[in-house]
Amino acid sequence: MSLTNSPDPEVRARVVKQDLDSVLHPLVQHRALETSQLVITGGQGSTIVDADGTTYLDAMAGLWCVNIGYGRVELAQVAAEQMQQVAYYPHTAMNLPAAQLGEQINSLMGGDYHTYFVNSGSEANEAGFKIARQFVKHEYPGEFRFKTISRYYAYHGTTLSTLAAGGMGDRKGKFEPYSGAFVHVPAPTCYRCPMGLEYPSCGVACAKAIETTILGEGPQTVAEVLVEPIMSGVGVAVPPDEYHPMVEAICRKYDVLLHVDEVINGFGRTGKMFGHQHYNISPDIMAVAKGIVSAYLPIAATVVKNSVFQSFLGEVADERQVMQVNTYGGHPVAAAVAVRNIEIMLEEKLPERAAEMGGYLMAGLKDRLMRHGICGEVRGKGLLIGIELVTDRESKTQLGSALVQGVVNFCRSNGVIVGRSGGGARHSNTIVLSPPLVITRSECDTLIEVLDRALQMTVDKMAGRG
Ligand SMILES: Cc1ncc(COP(=O)(O)O)c(C=O)c1O
Repeated sequence: MSLTNSPDPEVRARVVKQDLDSVLHPLVQHRALETSQLVITGGQGSTIVDADGTTYLDAMAGLWCVNIGYGRVELAQVAAEQMQQVAYYPHTAMNLPAAQLGEQINSLMGGDYHTYFVNSGSEANEAGFKIARQFVKHEYPGEFRFKTISRYYAYHGTTLSTLAAGGMGDRKGKFEPYSGAFVHVPAPTCYRCPMGLEYPSCGVACAKAIETTILGEGPQTVAEVLVEPIMSGVGVAVPPDEYHPMVEAICRKYDVLLHVDEVINGFGRTGKMFGHQHYNISPDIMAVAKGIVSAYLPIAATVVKNSVFQSFLGEVADERQVMQVNTYGGHPVAAAVAVRNIEIMLEEKLPERAAEMGGYLMAGLKDRLMRHGICGEVRGKGLLIGIELVTDRESKTQLGSALVQGVVNFCRSNGVIVGRSGGGARHSNTIVLSPPLVITRSECDTLIEVLDRALQMTVDKMAGRG
C-alpha cells in the first residue's frame, strides 16, 4: 500500500460510525474514541497514513512488531501464492512453509531446537508453561514440579496464565484470582531498584532472589523460571550484564527450565537476532511472536531445546507426545510469510541495522533530552528504547500521569507515534520507542526533534508558561 491514498472524508466517517456502533476495542476507553480516532489505511517503511491523509512516523512499529516496516508488497504475493497452493491443513501433518520456518529458527538458534507453532505471543508462553509441566511430569515422576517463577512488572500475555505469570498489577487486577502456580521475584528495574539498592554494590541481588525463592518454595515444586531478556512493557529495563548468566546458573543448579520470552526482543529488535544472545545464555524454552512475521499475519512459536524435545519421544503407547493442539498452528500461509520476512531480515541485515540506528538514535536522544531536567534516563538496546520522565533528576519522582500522556499526545499531534510504559504508578512514566528496524537517520532526527519539543512543552507547562 502506498501513501498516496486520497483522503475520503465520507469513507472515514462511515468507518468511524460502523466501528463506534459495533466494535469493542482493547485497552482504549471508548469515550476517547468518540473524539479522536486513527483509521489507518496505508503504510510504507516507518510511516502510516490515516484515512484523512495525515501521515505519522510510527515509532512503535504498531505494537512493537512491524520489524521489517510497512508496505512490503512482496509478502502479499507470497501469501497469495501459498493460499493458492494449499491454504490450510492441520499441523498434525507436515507442510512445506512450516517445515522451512522450523529449520530457519533452528538455524538462527544454532541447530539444537525444535519449534511448536501457535498464533500469538500469549499462546507461545502458554504453550511454554504446558511443555515445561509435561516435561517435568515425564522427567521427575512422583514429584510435583509445577511452579513458574517470573518477575514483578513483567508482561507475558493476555490469557489468564500469562497474566498470572506477568507482574503488572494494573493489567491483572480485574481478573483475579489466579492460580497459585506463579511466584514472583523482584525485577531488574535498576533505575528504580525494587530492593532499594544500587548497581554494582547490589551484587545483582535481584538475580540472587531467584535462588532464595526456589529454595523457599522447594526446588522439587519449581518447573521453570520465565524471563524477558530486556523487559519491554515496564519501560525498557536493561538488566546488568551479569543478571541473565546468574539466572541461568541458578536454573542449572536446581534443574529448573529456563523459559525466555523473546516476543518483543526477538527478531532483531535489540540489535541481535534474539535478546538473550547479548547475554550468552541458552534458553530451554523460548517464546517468539511479533517480529517473526513482522505482524503481516498472525503466527508465533514456542521453541524448545532438543534436551527438552527428547522427553516427548517414545512409543505411541507411551503417550509422551505434546498433548496440545491449536487449529491454526503451523498455518502454511502465515508460515510462508514468516519465512520470507526472516529472509528479508537477513538479506537487509536488519538486526545489525537496529544496532547501528539504535546507537545513533540513543546518542541523539541522550544529547537532546537529557538537557531537560524532567528526563531521568534514556536507556535501551538497539531499537528498543525507554525515556524515563521525572519531576526532577535528584528525587526521581515519577512525572505525573497526565503530563506523561501530554508528551504522547504532543508527539501524535506533531506526526509521531510513541508509546508509554505500563506498570501502575511506579513505572508508567516512561516513553517507549520500538520503531521499524528500517527507520532512517532522518526519521530518527525527526523523532528526536519532536520529543525534544514535547519535553520543552512539558517543562513550560510545569513552570506555568504553557
Ligand atoms: C514480552 C511479551 N510477551 C508476550 C506478549 C503477548 O503477545 P500477544 O499480544 O501476541 O499475545 C507480549 C505482547 O505485547 C509481550 O510484550
